[in-house]
Amino acid sequence: MDILPQISVIDFGSQYTQLIVRRLRESGYFAKLYHPDSLKENPSPKGVILSGGPSSVSDSGAPDIDLDYLRGLEVPVLGICYGMQLLNKKHGGMVEPGTTREYGPAELRPEGNSVLFEKMSGSSQIWMSHSDTCTQLPDGAKVIGRNEEGLPVAVQLSELIFGIQFHPEVTHSHEGKTVIENFLSLVDDPPRFNMDSFKELLIKQVREEVGERQVICGVSGGVDSTVLAVLLNAAGVKLRAIYVDNGLMRKGETVEVREQFEKLGMELEVVDAGSRFLHAIAGIDEPEEKRRRIGNMFVDVFFDAAENVELLAQGTLYPDVIESATSGSIASTIKTHHNRVQRILELQEEGRVIEPLAELFKDEVRALGESFGIARDILYRHPFPGPGLAVRVPGEVTEEKLEIVREGDAIFMRHLKESGWYDKVWQAYCGLLPIKTVGVKGDERSYEWAVSLRAVISEDAMTADWVELPAELLRRISNEILNSVKGINRVFYDISTKPPASIELE
Ligand code: XMP
Repeated sequence: MDILPQISVIDFGSQYTQLIVRRLRESGYFAKLYHPDSLKENPSPKGVILSGGPSSVSDSGAPDIDLDYLRGLEVPVLGICYGMQLLNKKHGGMVEPGTTREYGPAELRPEGNSVLFEKMSGSSQIWMSHSDTCTQLPDGAKVIGRNEEGLPVAVQLSELIFGIQFHPEVTHSHEGKTVIENFLSLVDDPPRFNMDSFKELLIKQVREEVGERQVICGVSGGVDSTVLAVLLNAAGVKLRAIYVDNGLMRKGETVEVREQFEKLGMELEVVDAGSRFLHAIAGIDEPEEKRRRIGNMFVDVFFDAAENVELLAQGTLYPDVIESATSGSIASTIKTHHNRVQRILELQEEGRVIEPLAELFKDEVRALGESFGIARDILYRHPFPGPGLAVRVPGEVTEEKLEIVREGDAIFMRHLKESGWYDKVWQAYCGLLPIKTVGVKGDERSYEWAVSLRAVISEDAMTADWVELPAELLRRISNEILNSVKGINRVFYDISTKPPASIELE
């Protein structure tokens, strides 16, 4: 089966570029992002989309494309926003800075029954984000859509070349999906993207990239690293999957991860480093210092276990990758702080880091994991912070406090799962409040710790809202925690939004 990308998406740096790829996959097409200078890397695309971007076509050094080459491909081309302006200019039209930046909703009124707007309403909301405008169209260009002010927002520049000023890839363009599907109907190739074919492509890419080298992969027990390890294993490369038990994991977590790997027929090296981590943070109550020590210890323990690293595989996902049209490489800058440690940066510079999931969104990683037979429990697990329970035990971390949090959390999660709430909340946990309060146990007064339950919904962890769990469910959870977890006499439910609170306690 041919698994070359069917559609080349040329990345001019728009914040929405990843979404174009995603929409194309949703419509059943293989798509890949290319730097404008790397257009030829995919020798025979069946269609090309030029993304939007922050530049102005008249800037010196603005990203450009080889129009003759593009025309010579004889495939449908769609320019979005900057892509449209560039095509317009290169065809002989004029692009000028607008008087104001147009950002937000506008209206599309299709004109002349263009194939691009088939099966669409007479007028629909579109989403704009641009400052330049095409003030003059080239000879032979046809206006196929205008906005509510009658200004052209969609043009056909030649039989196969189209330009639209709006962003069909965002859901705020209400019929954007239809626009993309109409464009794809011009593509002389049937849809071929599905998880099985994608899996094959990824496996092939991993094999080619790794060759005979040995790959080391850190497994945390979370979705991304588990799917990554399973993908590498499926590619048949020489693999060492290493799991560092930092002593800050939840109840039964290490056993679960070990069992999951056994079930998948994979070897997992478990490094039991709990006491080293706890020793490193003993007596430390400053949150950032705790984090720093845990992070450093992880690097030490992991690289000690790994010994000589020929290749390191990281579970970086698409949203972690910041595209940059000027960097020359898509996988340019990694956002997540835990990926950024010096040791890994050095390996990266030496070309010894691979990121096979860097083209995937989270839900695609889950779908891939499902196709490999990974348990749902792992694939749909809530996010868990790198420093583990340490950020849920403010102040000094002790084994006694960790035990309380582990037990409380296990009860909370069991109830959430049984009641169907686990999948409805984005993240939930039981943390320990660094206070002791008075209570009564039997005839005696007790002076014990308090736990805090937190359940939030969020889209990207930047903001979060607390979840209104049913009072009766909270009552059952609280009763069970108070009756069976030793060392506490009080349960709080956290009703703080982020901001100003954060999701974790530290
Ligand atoms: P906060 O507490 O900042 O958390 O609102 C936002 C999201 O990030 C996770 N988190 C971390 N993840 N290392 C990580 O890998 C960390 O140090 C860390 N701190 C918070 C947190 O669980 C939530 O999903």
